[in-house]
Amino acid sequence: MIVLGIESSCDETAAAVVRDGTVILSNVVASQIEVHGPYGGVVPEIASRKHIEAIGFVIREALDKAEVDRHDIEGIAVTRGPGLVGSLLVGLSMAKALAYALGIPLVGVNHLVGHMAAVFLGRDRPAFPFVCLIVSGGHTTLCAVRDFEDVSVLGQTRDDAAGEAFDKAAKLLGIGYPGGIVIDRLARRGDGRVVPFPRAMRQSLDFSFSGLKTSLVNLLKRRACPFTEEELPDVAASYQEAVVEVLVEKTLRAAEETAMERVVVCGGVAANSRLRDLFAERAAVSGVRVYIPPADLCTDNAAMVAAAGDYLLRKGRRDGLDLNALSRWPLGLAL
Ligand code: KG4
Ligand code: ZN
Repeated sequence: MIVLGIESSCDETAAAVVRDGTVILSNVVASQIEVHGPYGGVVPEIASRKHIEAIGFVIREALDKAEVDRHDIEGIAVTRGPGLVGSLLVGLSMAKALAYALGIPLVGVNHLVGHMAAVFLGRDRPAFPFVCLIVSGGHTTLCAVRDFEDVSVLGQTRDDAAGEAFDKAAKLLGIGYPGGIVIDRLARRGDGRVVPFPRAMRQSLDFSFSGLKTSLVNLLKRRACPFTEEELPDVAASYQEAVVEVLVEKTLRAAEETAMERVVVCGGVAANSRLRDLFAERAAVSGVRVYIPPADLCTDNAAMVAAAGDYLLRKGRRDGLDLNALSRWPLGLAL
């Protein structure tokens, strides 16, 4: 089955064509990073307008690159939520119009399930069930996944998401946006043991990153001057280590507690090189198999939405033209 995926939940306008939920024929992402960069974060009103400008071109390009005609498409999968409503509605409206015009089925996808489904686009694919860590700019959630329609949450952040912790730290340090990738790059030249940043809520499967951010704020206040070029890599590496260590520890503990042998790590922060290395290192010791999608499929894209959509369409899921956007859509909540 050939599925067209459409994603517009935040600041990426994306469209992709995927065959059988596993083979990417095209994967086009138009990023708005440059537009939001000067504000240090996504401005919702600007994001919606930019999606409207880009969406037609992005879908056209996805079809061209896949070398398929629109009549070859057999189903449309679109991100329904969670995300910015104004942004989601752009993708949803386009998806509905296309599904109606082409007379093909439409399915709304939970963005977080999309992130999970990215793992089926890589070469190494897990079988169900697995423990999944979703780490992105808006979410840090640990869940048990028996299949994409049977997901239960094991733990989640009580305040900031891991990606948010990176983005806010980069803003405080004045080193750029989005923060995760900048810190990842800087940290490669640093020593993660230099600054003893706190690790919160070690006993629980829930997460908390706001204390970590506050400790960076306090560190900056105590110094009264910015970090030097020589110090920055060590600060970035130490901060990254504090985030990554907690994510890896809790995920492997969740696998142990649920007696699951497979772990999937996904979402934008799963692109982090230190996170990937530490998971590989610790998993080898604990005997758990860890599956992480290729880095370019960890951050927002539409191929992951098409992969999740393929799965749901095969299960017989269909949505009508009255499908609406959801700013909040907790995992495990079937609609
Ligand atoms: O999944 P995603 O593209 O969008 C959301 O659904 O939120 O994730 C974006 C988040 C941002 O916070 C960004 O800083 C973070 O993922 N991120 C990274 C890296 N690449 C992106 N964080 C750490 N290391 C990276 N290499
Ligand atoms: Zn995302």
